[in-house]
Amino acid sequence: MSRADARRRIAELSREIAEHDHRYYALNRPTISDAEYDRRLRELIELEERFPDLRLPDSPTLRVGGSLRTAFKKVPHVRPMLSLDSLMDESEVREFDARVRKGLSVERVTYMAEPKFDGLSVEIVYEDGVLARASTRGDGEVGEDITENVRTIRAVPLRLHSHRDRPAPQGILSVRGEALMPLPEFEALNKRLIEQNDEPFANARNSAAGTVRQLDPRITASRRLDFFAYDLVAPPGSEPETQHDVLESLGAWGFHVDRSARRCDGIDEGLRFHAELLERRDRLEFEIDGAVIKVDRRDAQERLGARSRSPRWAVAFKFPPREEITRILDIAVQVGRTGKLTPVALLQPVNVSGVTVSRATLHNQDEVDRKDVRVGDTVRVRRAGDVIPEVVEVIQDKRPRGAEPFRLPSKCPVCGARVERQGAYHVCTNGLSCPAQLQGHIEHFVSRGAMDIAGLGGKTVQQLLVKELVRNVADIYRLTPEDLAGLEGFAEKSIDNLMQAIEKSRHPRLERFLFALGVEHVGGTVARLLAEHYGGLAPLLEASEEELQGIKGIGPEVASAVHRFFSSPDNRKVLEQLELAGVRPVAEKKPRGPLPLAGEVVVFTGTLETLSRPEAQRRAEAAGATVAGSVSKKVTLVVAGPGAGSKREEAERQGIEVIDEERFLKRIGQV
Ligand code: IVH
Repeated sequence: MSRADARRRIAELSREIAEHDHRYYALNRPTISDAEYDRRLRELIELEERFPDLRLPDSPTLRVGGSLRTAFKKVPHVRPMLSLDSLMDESEVREFDARVRKGLSVERVTYMAEPKFDGLSVEIVYEDGVLARASTRGDGEVGEDITENVRTIRAVPLRLHSHRDRPAPQGILSVRGEALMPLPEFEALNKRLIEQNDEPFANARNSAAGTVRQLDPRITASRRLDFFAYDLVAPPGSEPETQHDVLESLGAWGFHVDRSARRCDGIDEGLRFHAELLERRDRLEFEIDGAVIKVDRRDAQERLGARSRSPRWAVAFKFPPREEITRILDIAVQVGRTGKLTPVALLQPVNVSGVTVSRATLHNQDEVDRKDVRVGDTVRVRRAGDVIPEVVEVIQDKRPRGAEPFRLPSKCPVCGARVERQGAYHVCTNGLSCPAQLQGHIEHFVSRGAMDIAGLGGKTVQQLLVKELVRNVADIYRLTPEDLAGLEGFAEKSIDNLMQAIEKSRHPRLERFLFALGVEHVGGTVARLLAEHYGGLAPLLEASEEELQGIKGIGPEVASAVHRFFSSPDNRKVLEQLELAGVRPVAEKKPRGPLPLAGEVVVFTGTLETLSRPEAQRRAEAAGATVAGSVSKKVTLVVAGPGAGSKREEAERQGIEVIDEERFLKRIGQV
């Protein structure tokens, strides 16, 4: 690259990065992904290293962090708070390791590998063991005084605990860590904000930042933040020898430290930690965006030293970002099995954390209005785990001229029937006469958790409907091999398999059958309650609305929907046809003896190691427990996995029994 080109590019990158810094730190509204930001910043750093004299006097690389807001008092840090170089590839991590080994003249280095918490970094200073002040990172040298807000975070000890082996240090101790908003709290907060017609936060990090910077500490206190400690500056004479030691001490003094942090013998183990953490990412109660790999020995850290903005002894090995920027090409309208119209953004395909995303749900008209999403908009999309991709927000300055607000149609796009507004949703009023509803209904009926007819996928159902071989779910049981032979993709073997699958489904468990019928509000749990209560279909058909309401766990809305469904002549006819076709649900056997968790109210918190959260809840309920979302007086048992935070503490404070996953499984007799 010529000097002239470098000069031009440096100016361009400096201006862009400064702009993005401002959007990120001051406005809390980034318009590019972290990955893109990092790419630009690294390009600039490289160019400035090659042409040091071309670095601008106000280059963004001269700063450690973001610019400061003015509402809070400024406080200098005990020692500058550095940031970490972000690496995206394994090869870069290996290069880091090579540099470290060379710098220390050793063959192999012991590292500490830890989660990279995606929150807001905070310094908390203790004087003789008592919390004296707390500040944000600010520009790395000077931060904002957020002492009063940090005092409201329960995970932050106001006075350090003293442990026999690890007494709390006297003098000035600086503890560094990350303030986070746990995801359940973040979701609940956004729900509240939307209900109050306030702007929700785009992600948990922004909501933690917004909460820590509240001018009114009472608001901070009402939103439960968590704090994980990962670093300290010790008073002279009490320097820990290793990062491992740092975490042990922080834990002993009463801080949350992540218990999955691992000491690694060599970089391969660090890379393995990163891969395992990525796999666990979606099961954690808080957001992480990578692994931090640190040289374990503090004297070695000292010898390696730091560049202007980051240490040479640690790096962040990032995960692929969950958010990307792309454009909305069109907005389609889907009609589901219940008739609900869902607007779906059709996107310029974009890779989000390793998966190509070309559609994102917009939920309903209210959501479209709130986010003001229009065709042609540039948007931030987010994909978290298995959740359907979502449009987080519109980048307003990139809206093309003439873009019109989007409105759901007043006629069903599939059958043309009238569309009615029901609460937040627009619903096609044509019931199972709407082909889209009928197709969804049948797909649900045959699905895994329902009648479980393998080999009857969406495409086959569609063909059966088009050929009018099936008009309702009972018709499935009248299908003959000859009928199937006429379908695309069906040969002797697959015809045989499907016929067998249909045959096998004639005696479903009652709860599955009830779920399969697709009654409004009847999911797996309600279906099970009904099955357990009635033990057969006949008494349920006769049940009055009042009687249904009397069942524990069934509210008025559900009772009314169930009653309505079974009183409808059309539905009765289909049930009769099913019976004629030989479909006989098997009555539930009441479980013998008292259930192991009968009467218990259980809360799950932290990461479960063998079960998914829904599976654990299902098993707890099957064992007779009620599952609650937060710790209250009613709760009798808390199952806490690694990373459990405020809920665990609250339970311990209230004297509620806390057990781990293994004990939980033992208790329900499943170990
Ligand atoms: S250590 C000198 N450990 O990531 C190293 N930082 O860009 C100091 N972070 O500013 C940081 N999790 O806010 C460290 N386990 C962890 C971390 C972590 C998150 C944040 C921290 C830092 C930023 C790096």
